[in-house]
Amino acid sequence: MTLEIDVLTLFPRMFEGPLSGSIPARIQERGLAVIRVHDLRRWGLGRHRSVDDYTYGGGAGMVLRPEPVAAALAELRRDDSIAILLDPAGEPFRQAKAHELAGAGHLIFVCPRYEGVDERIRALVDLELSIGDYILTGGELAALVVIDAVIRLLPGAIDEASTAEESFSSGLLEYPQYTRPPVFMGLAVPAVLIGGDHGAVRRWRLKEALRRTLLRRPDLLEGRPFTAEEHELLDEIRAELDELGVGPSTSPEVAPAPAEGSPAGAGEPGSGQVDPAAPEV
Ligand SMILES: C[S@@+](CC[C@H](N)C(=O)[O-])C[C@H]1O[C@@H](n2cnc3c(N)ncnc32)[C@H](O)[C@@H]1O
Repeated sequence: MTLEIDVLTLFPRMFEGPLSGSIPARIQERGLAVIRVHDLRRWGLGRHRSVDDYTYGGGAGMVLRPEPVAAALAELRRDDSIAILLDPAGEPFRQAKAHELAGAGHLIFVCPRYEGVDERIRALVDLELSIGDYILTGGELAALVVIDAVIRLLPGAIDEASTAEESFSSGLLEYPQYTRPPVFMGLAVPAVLIGGDHGAVRRWRLKEALRRTLLRRPDLLEGRPFTAEEHELLDEIRAELDELGVGPSTSPEVAPAPAEGSPAGAGEPGSGQVDPAAPEV
């Protein structure tokens, strides 16, 4: 099935570069996604195709008027459409939402600019998304972030093993990865990755994904169910961290974030600790 995407923006050219190269381009060439970018001024008001106006009550900047957005949505909407407003007050965009949107048939992105939107525009859309706690100049970059995250999850877009194992898909950050050389600046690739024991590699990766998440994003572990193996690995990790005197030693539910200024990923492979079991090459 093809995911169809319509984008409403005052700056259509902002979409050309990011969507015309690499994986996003291949996804479109293979017909997995069709992306149409529209200039919102096409639905603008009057001779000047106006789309924004001053805010009632006074204040700096212009606000997007509701009529052009309503007219554009009336023309583009279908039964299976999800209309999305990019907005700092929207639901934080996460990988689970990317998976959900990748299963849709039609997405419409509304990209405001300037001071934001007339409040009544919120009633015209199905979903409001924020890409983080900071302010961009417009919704275009936010829409591109969402589009990129969604289309790479479409069946056949990229190797499904990569999307199944990467950060957030299992509720954990991804385990550390290595390529050649076997030793770089005195830092060796962990011996288990070179040993050819697939079971041991799988268990090591799970353990290191748990360790990295516990140390860097303990919030991700809150409320996440753990398998018996994960519980066992977390106990091992806590014992190792206690021995090193770094990181949280409490349960993941209440584990504190690493202190500001403490070395990121202390105790993790790649954090400057050389694996003594690594082969000499
Ligand atoms: C300068 S911002 C407006 C900010 C607005 N006055 C406020 O304080 O919430 C202009 C537009 O950029 C987009 N934008 C800015 N930051 C965003 C974010 N973190 N996530 C999604 N969209 C964002 C939204 O479409 C927003 O309407």
